[in-house]
Amino acid sequence: MHLRLRQFGAACVLAFAISSVAHAQQDEEKTPLGKKMSAMNTAFKAVGRQIDDPSKNANTLEQLAIIETNAKAALTLEPEKQSKIPAAEQAKFKAGYQAGMKEFIATVQKLQVSIKAGKNAEAVATYDEMKGMQREGHKEYRIKKAGAPPGGN
Ligand code: HEM
Repeated sequence: MHLRLRQFGAACVLAFAISSVAHAQQDEEKTPLGKKMSAMNTAFKAVGRQIDDPSKNANTLEQLAIIETNAKAALTLEPEKQSKIPAAEQAKFKAGYQAGMKEFIATVQKLQVSIKAGKNAEAVATYDEMKGMQREGHKEYRIKKAGAPPGGN
């Protein structure tokens, strides 16, 4: 019995170690831009769960501030795809990416105005617009990973 417990304990420690390493590796695979995107993603999902609920507006504004900060940082970073396309196309790619990100930031700010005014129905429509921007931004500027759905996250 004692032995079994010890074996179980050892198995747990091992499982924990393996999962920690896997997690760290996943994070290391992310580009600097990918890390900003992941932070945006967590906050964006939280906003989506409560955008129509005025009693959650204070927290929604906190999440929007996280999205705004990370989107502004993303604006200064270069998508991984940029260096992989022909040199002659890179300036246009960069300008397009930055324009898309600026439009996205402006939309986050529009959403903040709606939430501060308690206009949650208006905010829901803007949130849907942002999903479209995410889809378009990914289709255009993100490297397509094998097996990943187009534009998905
Ligand atoms: C609601 C808005 C958005 C969300 C929640 C979001 C989320 C994400 C997520 C989860 C990733 C994968 C990160 C990783 O694990 O590596 C990603 C990658 C990426 N996203 Fe977004 N995204 C949004 C909007 C946009 C927009 C508007 C653009 C472009 C104008 C964009 C461009 C990219 C690019 C280029 C990558 C690949 C990272 C790299 O090249 O280094 N995203 N995004």
